[in-house]
Amino acid sequence: MHPLSLHIFPTRVLGHTLKPSAETFKVNYYSGHYRALKDFGICRGSRQPNEVGLSSTLSLKVPASMNMTTELYTYLLEHTREPQVLQDLRDETAAMNGSHMQITRDQGQFMSMLVKLTGTKRAVELGVYTGYSSLVVAMALPEDGKLYAIDKDERSMAVARKYWQLSGVNNKVVERLGNAQGELKQLLEEFGQGSFDMGFIDADKRVYHLYYELMLKLMKPGGIIVVDNVLFYGKVVKPEAGDKAAAALAEFNKVLFTDERIDLSIIPVGDGMALCRKR
Ligand SMILES: C[S@@+](CC[C@H](N)C(=O)[O-])C[C@H]1O[C@@H](n2cnc3c(N)ncnc32)[C@H](O)[C@@H]1O
Repeated sequence: MHPLSLHIFPTRVLGHTLKPSAETFKVNYYSGHYRALKDFGICRGSRQPNEVGLSSTLSLKVPASMNMTTELYTYLLEHTREPQVLQDLRDETAAMNGSHMQITRDQGQFMSMLVKLTGTKRAVELGVYTGYSSLVVAMALPEDGKLYAIDKDERSMAVARKYWQLSGVNNKVVERLGNAQGELKQLLEEFGQGSFDMGFIDADKRVYHLYYELMLKLMKPGGIIVVDNVLFYGKVVKPEAGDKAAAALAEFNKVLFTDERIDLSIIPVGDGMALCRKR
């Protein structure tokens, strides 16, 4: 764990205009947050290794694609339920590379609600990372439910595995360590078309369209595909040259918009989630 210190020098952060001299502020953070903020172009930082950080400080950060004040987002999170085991996982992940990839708490609560509303019994997830979204889904599934959890990275999957066990849902999770498309094809062979109630797409943004086509085959009529990051930090509005992920997501959103095979609703939660209900 490497707590670092960061100075943020924004003129405008997430809809809130700051006076740079008076309101430049200092927060404690972990390396994953720093990279995320740098990616968003809202900070520059310096390493001050011996400072002690609070892992949750920046998890209050408003997702970049949402036009919400920090105060209102803080209020929303204060009224978002998060079981202790999910908090613990969030804290452990905060010290890891890529922690910004984790879904937000309000997204997690929303996904849990979706699983229950749809009566999902068999679900598939692409992009487990350290397991936050998979844990949310598995906890919401009925006792005889199953989540097929796919990721290619053994290191982060090991963290996810630990939390499935800690929370007692490991009997509901079937781990699939491997490439997303290959594993989806395998599931199609094993279970056939129209055999899943819910799918979650949160792996390589540049090939979402490929995942989506395979997932659509896997879903039952009435099944739901949830797609994360469809607003991609607001970058889908005008992808910068060379930003392959933003360009791919902008194209993907166009495909969803005109796809007659689904009902569509893009929800501005987290970094934007598309709900695609197979007709
Ligand atoms: C955004 S993170 C997932 C975050 C996770 N849903 C959560 O809530 O913590 C993306 C994950 O997708 C995985 N991934 C990326 N490309 C992949 C591929 N082609 N096959 C399998 N996994 C992939 C990465 O290893 C990474 O763990």
